[in-house]
Amino acid sequence: MRKQMKTLIDRLARGDSLRPAEYEALIAQSDPEVMEYLFSRARKVQLREFGNKVFLRGLIEISSYCTNDCYYCGIRAGNANARRYRLDADQILACCERGYDLGFRTFVLQAGDDPFFSRDVVCGIVRRIKSRWNDCAVTLSLGEKSRDEYEAYFEAGADRYLLRHETANPAHYGRLHPDDMAHESRIRCLHDLKEIGFQVGAGFMVGSPFQTDRHLAEDLQFLAEFKPHMVGIGPFIRHQDTPFRDFPSGPLQKTLVLLAILRLLLPRAMLPATTALGSIDPHGREKGILAGANVVMPNLSPDEAREKYSLYDNKLSTGAEAAGGTRLLREKLAGIGYEIADGRGDWQPRAKEIGSCTTS
Ligand code: 5AD
Repeated sequence: MRKQMKTLIDRLARGDSLRPAEYEALIAQSDPEVMEYLFSRARKVQLREFGNKVFLRGLIEISSYCTNDCYYCGIRAGNANARRYRLDADQILACCERGYDLGFRTFVLQAGDDPFFSRDVVCGIVRRIKSRWNDCAVTLSLGEKSRDEYEAYFEAGADRYLLRHETANPAHYGRLHPDDMAHESRIRCLHDLKEIGFQVGAGFMVGSPFQTDRHLAEDLQFLAEFKPHMVGIGPFIRHQDTPFRDFPSGPLQKTLVLLAILRLLLPRAMLPATTALGSIDPHGREKGILAGANVVMPNLSPDEAREKYSLYDNKLSTGAEAAGGTRLLREKLAGIGYEIADGRGDWQPRAKEIGSCTTS
């Protein structure tokens, strides 16, 4: 069994993708020796592709209003206890300014699905950020929009877009979302974003309600085919004011196993050690990096906003998780042998892929 698992890991490390049953077997095992083998192979790929560098992104949570009612999420429309706020353009620019001074060169603007942030409002903000700091990347994470709207964001200068697919299995998607949200529409958005030219991030929660190892295998298969530039994964964490309040949090070890498999499957992908991972374990983020993650996204939101952007209970937003805590973050990273990378940290194709682009 152990030998079989190591063979699967070796095949992934060689660039093979696996069959669903093989992913499932790998995800299901919990043999410490196999897991350590997997993490060390993932680290080897991470060090080959990026050295010991970790990329920083400054997360600005621009609105906690949301018209969607995702059953897992604390800022869902149906949560009457949620505290709502939105930042205006000047406040967002002030967050960027602070972030720029702290060394951030990527700003991630994330919100619930808030109609206030219309096409014109978003494009206006993106243009202001890009004209003021032309050495910075702007990432948007604003949910499902029409292709036209995504095109307008791209023309305004947005570089990247994060939209987790949440689960690759349509029936499972249906159990996490109300009927007015459709799996095919989510997937359509991801394809649109990629075709338009964004660096695109997909992703999912580990241990979300009703999830099976087969579903996770389908997630891996979807990601191996879609080839996103970024993949955000983190454990599901319950929120007291949601229909999923009684479900247990997603397991740490399984999240790490999935991160490591993803590092082998998509060697150049930007993989954050997410806030959710840091929130379930005091060393979650460092463990994520040692399993192959290469991005951290400290919070640049104003203090008053942070506690209101409550996607799940006990969400971290202070200490090394806060942008102001970059010194602490540097120390924590140094403790495991890693450093913060300079610059925007764009996704880069491999040398041979660059070659094939220029000749075709
Ligand atoms: N636990 C963990 N992650 C969550 N998200 C939303 N709610 C939760 C939760 N309860 C994640 C979703 C979403 C991203 C912004 O946050 O995957 O895409």
